[in-house]
Amino acid sequence: MRLRAVPALLMFSAIATILGVASTCTSAGWSRVSAHQETKSIPSSDAEARAFVTDLLKKMTLEEKVGQMSQVPLNSTPDRPVDEMIRKGQVGSFLFITDAAEINRLQHVAVEQGRLHIPLLFGFDVIHGFRTIYPVPLAMAASWDPSVAERAQTMAAKEARATGVQWTFAPMVDIARDARWGRIMEGAGEDPFLGSRMAEAQVRGFQGAHLGSPEHILACVKHFAGYGAALGGRDYEESNISDEQLWNVYLPPFHAAIEAGVGSVMSAYMDLNGVPATGNQFLLHDVLRDDWKFKGMVVSDWNSVSSLTTHGFARDDEAAAVQAVNAGVDMEMTSHSFRDELPAAVGKGFVTEATINAAVEDILMTKYRMGLFKDPYIDVPHVASQLVTPEQREATRETAARTAVLLRNEGNLLPLRGKYKSIAVIGMLADSKADIMGSWSLAGHPEDSITVLEGMRKRFSPGAQITYTKGVEIEREQPSIFDDQFVSPKPTLKTEAERDAEFHHAIDLVRQSDVSVLVLGELQSMSGERASRSSLALPGKQEELLEAAVATGKPVVLVLLNGRPLNITWASEHVPAILEAWYPGTEGGDAIADLLSGDVNPGGKLPIAWPRSVGQIPINYARNLTQIPEALDTRYWDGTSAPLYPFGYGLSYSSFTMGNLKLAEPSVHAGSMLKVSVDVENTSSRDGDEVVELYTHQRAGSASRPVRELKGFERVTLRAHEKRAVMLMLNTKDLGFWSPQTHHWGLEPGMFDLWVGSDESAGDHASFELLP
Ligand code: NOJ
Repeated sequence: MRLRAVPALLMFSAIATILGVASTCTSAGWSRVSAHQETKSIPSSDAEARAFVTDLLKKMTLEEKVGQMSQVPLNSTPDRPVDEMIRKGQVGSFLFITDAAEINRLQHVAVEQGRLHIPLLFGFDVIHGFRTIYPVPLAMAASWDPSVAERAQTMAAKEARATGVQWTFAPMVDIARDARWGRIMEGAGEDPFLGSRMAEAQVRGFQGAHLGSPEHILACVKHFAGYGAALGGRDYEESNISDEQLWNVYLPPFHAAIEAGVGSVMSAYMDLNGVPATGNQFLLHDVLRDDWKFKGMVVSDWNSVSSLTTHGFARDDEAAAVQAVNAGVDMEMTSHSFRDELPAAVGKGFVTEATINAAVEDILMTKYRMGLFKDPYIDVPHVASQLVTPEQREATRETAARTAVLLRNEGNLLPLRGKYKSIAVIGMLADSKADIMGSWSLAGHPEDSITVLEGMRKRFSPGAQITYTKGVEIEREQPSIFDDQFVSPKPTLKTEAERDAEFHHAIDLVRQSDVSVLVLGELQSMSGERASRSSLALPGKQEELLEAAVATGKPVVLVLLNGRPLNITWASEHVPAILEAWYPGTEGGDAIADLLSGDVNPGGKLPIAWPRSVGQIPINYARNLTQIPEALDTRYWDGTSAPLYPFGYGLSYSSFTMGNLKLAEPSVHAGSMLKVSVDVENTSSRDGDEVVELYTHQRAGSASRPVRELKGFERVTLRAHEKRAVMLMLNTKDLGFWSPQTHHWGLEPGMFDLWVGSDESAGDHASFELLP
């Protein structure tokens, strides 16, 4: 472990957020990584890598070191020709270059013309796919199956690496409990346990068995930390998080990613409890390096070093660079205060050369472990044949089918298979190749996408007649940061009369058809970064369209394409079938047709409690019991405080029962596992999936504990009428928590309640004692 040397005059910023000491773990994944090294692509030992890097460091000038600490975005250097910068050693990494030939060309410049031949690291946001787009991460979490997320990220890594991108800025593991926040779509939802399992799975998917695995890329867990608690759900706003919530809710998925061996961490944009995350010594040093023993590389978020001045934290760019590097940032993304200010700051004694060396060592070790010194280039002529392959299409189609959540199915309206001769598909989103991909699909090509309309035609024609119209148009009023890249269809109806005519045409189609599928929700630009909302209503006149369609008396299926829970309270009472398909990606239309037809049986579950209205936010299930607990649902006098759908909820075309809950022992020692078994029965005549969810509650301790917390789950497939005992292992380690009284992470012996069921309202109850 290296310590960042902090000159005395800068110590004032170091102590601002010392919240207490806690320890949750032993070592980071780095040593584990070296244990599995492959001789071909990475060094056989940590010592070999370190010797190489130490030797290289000795040859570097201060300017070259600072160059390694600079990440340059494509097109941001009009006044400084990029090739020249590379030759002079002023760039360590690029972001946003996705053209394979250009990546290779720049790498040749670095390796062949740079004084020290140091390869570049090319980064890009491979968040849910590269060229082939996979369902958004919130959807992956809705699979309640970590292997789904692992496979999707394995496949995404393959395409990225083939193209020359070696580094993704994912997984995003910010816990988010506010559906107004646009970036809720990028994470795993509200729960730290589910979020941790998804974080580990994604790290394994991106990086493979070890850093430097062939066909894999470096992962970057982000945004460290607390970004998901943005005030009011407004993107980029400050977060104010108590120590208790920080340790018990927001930090665990980061820790899980680090334990899984993630190679890099991104510091967040915003202030955490009054100190910017990118200049936050408590986060970047005390927690990450001291406590968690992280040995990889830390990159800032976009401009977040120089924006330390915007926060009113650093007085100028020099102070911003100094505070960020002394806090523990190794590489600056986009802004160039490191490059411009650090050499002089070292001369003035604001930063020690040892601190610079430590940062550069992290970067070079990462490049070495990724195999870039040995094998920096890609095989450009073969790139195209490795993108959107049939194997990729099959993987994303299966992923999408496993991530959809069936929210309602009155009278078994679904599946549609063979029952209807005419089907109306309605909604602008049903015919949009761009929107089905969702945000963070910047390397995706809309023309690769299968829309819902196409999927429905392929699956149901000619047996059924498929008709289509959009009904209403929707548009994001304010520009989005991705306006250059997003290609959502633009509104074409110019006058009120045209819009009315289209609306009525859609309702006529509903009337004339046996069944209608309304595909409603949000354009891709309505969810994601800088895409927060103050309302959860279906944008535009989609709600009116839905209500008018239902008023015809004809059966209506609502398919949602969106990145956050929306207000579907009316629909939940009046629309017989509702399928949450999220943004399902390149093969989304086929996957939705698979689900609607019944070729695939939905089995996803909600990774976030679904609010009835924006006024209920936050409505996360894991909250503490307080006064008059029997009135939990009536905390508002003007409406229920129960969510529309609970956390963990989701239906299937099959039906299941659970019972006969058994614990292997009535008590368990700290450090051991408790075997929990429950009988699950598929009481229907169709094969299907159920998720067995295990929740606990600690009855008494040094702090109040949430009414229920997820501590185990397993998605199981049961054949028609099959009954099976499902065994879950409750790890007592997961019963630990950070106590605001002791300021430590630990297990507190005592009595626990335990429930097993199919969502957080699970009824099967048992109790056990945790012994010291
Ligand atoms: C800013 C975003 O906050 C971050 O998530 C992303 O990785 C970087 N931009 C790079 O695109």
